[in-house]
Order: sequence, then C-alpha cells, then structure tokens
Amino acid sequence: MSDHTPASKVLDRVLVLEMVRVTEAAAIAASRLVGRGDEKAADAAAVEAMRRAFDELYMDGTVVIGEGERDEAPMLFIGEKVGGAPDKGPRIDIALDPLEGTTITAKAGPNALAVLAAAEEGGLLNAPDVYMDKIAVGPGYPKDVISLDKSVTENVTAVAEAKGVRPEDIIVCVLDRPRHGELIEELRGLGCGVVLIGDGDVAGVIATTDENTNIDLYMGSGGAPEGVLAAAALRCVGGQFNGRLLFRNDDERARARKWGIEDLNRIYKLEDLAKGDCIFAATGVTDGSLLAGVKHFKNGKRTTESVVMRASSGTVRWIKGEHRF
Ligand code: FBP
Repeated sequence: MSDHTPASKVLDRVLVLEMVRVTEAAAIAASRLVGRGDEKAADAAAVEAMRRAFDELYMDGTVVIGEGERDEAPMLFIGEKVGGAPDKGPRIDIALDPLEGTTITAKAGPNALAVLAAAEEGGLLNAPDVYMDKIAVGPGYPKDVISLDKSVTENVTAVAEAKGVRPEDIIVCVLDRPRHGELIEELRGLGCGVVLIGDGDVAGVIATTDENTNIDLYMGSGGAPEGVLAAAALRCVGGQFNGRLLFRNDDERARARKWGIEDLNRIYKLEDLAKGDCIFAATGVTDGSLLAGVKHFKNGKRTTESVVMRASSGTVRWIKGEHRF
C-alpha cells in the first residue's frame, strides 16, 4: 500500500491556500526588477523564489509544465520534483509560470503575473512549449458557442446572438503580434472592438470571465503552456475554451509526440487541458485587469493581491497580503 496521502483530500484542506504563498513569493521577488529592463533577471528571481516556496509545502509535486526541459532550465524544469514531502505527501501535478509577462515586467507594463495550476496526478495536459491557437469566452453561454473549427466571423456572430447584441458590440482581446494581422482585420471588418495586449494571454483569457473588463472573447495564438494555465482558471470560474497546438517544424512535432500527443490537430477543450479537481493561483506582479501588482512601502512592507480558485467547489478567493521582512 502507498504511503501517499490521497491528493483529493489535501487539495481541499491545505493546498488551496498554500498555493498562494508560492505565487506571492514569486511575485515579490520579480517585483524588485519591474522596469529594470532585464527580462532574464526578473524571470530568474521569480523562479528561484517559487522553487523555495514549494519546498515549504507538504506535497510530492511534479512539474508538468514549467520553465522548459531539464537541459534548458536549471530550475522548475518539466519532470522536476517539488514540495517538501517527496514519496510521502499527496502526488500533485503542477503547471507553472513564475513570471507570466517577462517583457512586461522589464518594461513596467500592465498585467504581469506569477501563476500556477495544480491538479491530482495526470490532471493537466503535458503541453509542449509550442504555440497554441486559442479561443475563449466567459461563462453563461450555450455549450459549444465557440469553436476553432468555425471562422472568426461565425464565432463572433454566435457569441453576439447568444448575448443578444450585434457583432459590432462584441469586444475581443488579441495579442498584438504581426501574425494576428488578418484576424484583427476580420474583427475590425465586423465592427468589433479589439483590445490589443502586448503580452500576457493568461490574463487575456481570464478577462473574458470578468464583466467589468467588457471583454467578450479572447482569440489568437500564444504559448501552449499558457493555454493550460488559462484553462485551469476557466475550469474554476466557468467559461469555454478551445485550443489547438500549432507546429512550426518537425522538431516541434517530435516534441509533442514525446509527450504522448498523437493527434497533432486535436482541438482541446477545458476538460482535456485540466481535468478532475484543480486549483489555479495567481499573484499580480504589475497592476492589471485581474490583480494589482506588488507595492513597496517604507520599512520593507510589501503588499500583494492574489486570487486562488478551485474547480470542484467553484470557490474564488481574493487575497490581499501585507508582508514585512
Ligand atoms: P513570457 O512571460 O514567457 O514572455 O510570455 C508572455 C506571452 O505574452 C504569453 O502570455 C503568451 O502566451 C506568449 O508570450 C506569446 O508568445 P509570443 O511573444 O512569441 O507571441
């Protein structure tokens, strides 16, 4: 018989809140480098702080989405064991991005986050670090209102009809990239509002779930790991997501096969990316639509704003922290 504590119990009782300590630690570390023009240093600070914070948690964690493969990432590489109770604590799979928005942080732009998702073993797609075509909509729409098999116009029209508005009333968030030229043109041709973001599509996808952002849809391609993280958040708060991996060469296709992905054209929905019970936690590094960034005060006081959500209960907790060193 295994000595491991069942993950389901511990996800419930301890880890939900504990995960926030991990994202807080990464966000505070990265915040010291906001606006310093050094993406690598900001990322390294977040990675190191997150790695240390994991050691304090009673779990036997495995990084399934991390900073890269073992030979390219000194810490938090895919397959790395994290947590303070190896071979004893609950087996948890972790997807993480200690600093989602390295460029944003270096330039002191909005919406940089420290992010992670946790699930019972096998609950998160082991996505290779390739691009993913994404479409997301917030909660309250009929099942399959969006689909990557439909055209941009068909998706916008379907969402507009379901919302009871005209296509020109729909607001779509898109990463500002040359590759999205045609997508933006088609959206503007429909009269849609297009919110262009410089980076950070995890926050972009989550924005569709918050009516205060006015954003109805997220569309376009970004990182596949970020797709899994965003899907974990949507599993907790509701909404729909489609993702399809995009491969630029044979090397990327081979990497996907290495992670057990056979159907390279598959459309992944929420449950395919994050299944069973899962947790999503994020702490703001810079101010954004989801969370305020870390603030530094006199005498070493820092404040953080975080959110932690759980799929099985649908509970969303907003946590403000005051930290004194
Ligand atoms: P990093 O923090 O790793 O730089 O990612 C930022 C990001 O904007 C993601 O949110 C997004 O998924 C990805 O980069 C898009 O990739 P690219 O910059 O190559 O278009």
